[in-house]
Amino acid sequence: MSEQPSQNSGAHTRFVALKMCLQVVEHGRSLSQVLPEGLAQFSDKRERSFVQNLVLGTLRWQFRLMAIRSQLLKKKLKAKDEDVNQLILLGLFQILHTETAEHAAVSETVNVTAKLKKPWAKGLVNGILRNFMREKDAICAEVDLKPAQKYSHPQWFFKAMRKAYPEHWQEILEANNQIAPLTLRNNALEQSRDELLQAFAEADIQASEHPHCQQGIVLEQSTDITQLPTYDEGGFSVQDAAAQQAAQILQPQAGQKILDACAAPGGKTAHLLEYANADLDLLALEKEPERLDRLAENLHRLGLECDYRVGDASQASDWWDGQPFDKILLDAPCSATGIIRRHPDIKWHRIPEDIEELVEIQQKILDELWQTLKPGGQMLYATCSVLPQENREQMQAFLERTNDAEMIPLAVDWGWQDSEIGRQILPGQDGMDGFYYCLLQKQA
Ligand SMILES: C[S@@+](CC[C@H](N)C(=O)[O-])C[C@H]1O[C@@H](n2cnc3c(N)ncnc32)[C@H](O)[C@@H]1O
Repeated sequence: MSEQPSQNSGAHTRFVALKMCLQVVEHGRSLSQVLPEGLAQFSDKRERSFVQNLVLGTLRWQFRLMAIRSQLLKKKLKAKDEDVNQLILLGLFQILHTETAEHAAVSETVNVTAKLKKPWAKGLVNGILRNFMREKDAICAEVDLKPAQKYSHPQWFFKAMRKAYPEHWQEILEANNQIAPLTLRNNALEQSRDELLQAFAEADIQASEHPHCQQGIVLEQSTDITQLPTYDEGGFSVQDAAAQQAAQILQPQAGQKILDACAAPGGKTAHLLEYANADLDLLALEKEPERLDRLAENLHRLGLECDYRVGDASQASDWWDGQPFDKILLDAPCSATGIIRRHPDIKWHRIPEDIEELVEIQQKILDELWQTLKPGGQMLYATCSVLPQENREQMQAFLERTNDAEMIPLAVDWGWQDSEIGRQILPGQDGMDGFYYCLLQKQA
């Protein structure tokens, strides 16, 4: 159950990890913002990796750790003492999931109470963690009687998975608690995948081809990608194998007019361009200006160009020139419940009301963009969600209300074979993120 090799790096690293957890849990910030800011405080690679594991792990196991804490401390802590609460969870995480010697992990965690300026908490944290060390097996057995606690997910999400995937929900929840592989996409405009693998091998980087991606490479170990060969020349991008299916399905051809409707940070935009030898009339549209800046930076690093602009995909009159598109990629805003293993804070941030709102937004964008598609043209609908409302049910409703739309079955050998409309990839299947694709064609 260990997360990564870890060392006992003292109270300071734990204090910084605690502050990052609080930013997510108490202040509702996203881990992808909080993590780089917090890790920037450490120049030592091992300390960075230790802190990263503490934060990701404590958030990943948050729901189970909370249930364990409730067994040990019947009285709830006050809201203003959320720091002490998170510190207890951080301590429990170390006892359960890291290789740090238990007694050392506990005493360094207890030392953090001094940094919180809450001396009263010293005895409390110490007592709870030491009690847990003594009664670990019995407490875990009790907590694990409830599946949402055992797999550390919010109750609503556990129920949604059990309903949608009666035979696969355990696998999904388990996969969400795993550390995701680091997958790259070779930039075919720079070199072949074999050539990049060769360059990696020469630099002693262990990597292999992904079986379902023409350009996918899976690294055997997590590493600083900016140090890998060809990074500075734009030789590759970081992109999960599931996300690499978009360009492979849509197959943009030279000269086609393409819309990438929800494009930032541009992973799929870049892949579409690379796929068609950079010879596309491609518009990348994005609602959030700061995110569009990231798209521009990413294209620049890869030496790629296309039209890009800020715009709302559900308001075509604001940005469409009236010339229909041959193909549209709609990588829709979604719950991101397929990528929980990469972003464990999603478990914390996402609530059922969000899903209803997202389903409505997706529906609005679908209906609007359909008007901009050429007769005979194709639209690929994609989400990184595992919820049927955003995927299969969304597509079923669209096909029912749209007379000139038909579904093109995907001739692929990946994903969950039971899905009738489109193809669902469950998290962890063939090492991929949870994703959904449905290819639609407008009748000529
Ligand atoms: C799933 S992400 C896209 C990821 C991107 N396709 C990639 O591969 O890098 C969805 C994006 O849609 C943007 N978005 C949300 N609502 C939008 C709208 N109405 N119009 C355009 N973009 C929107 C979000 O800001 C977000 O950047």
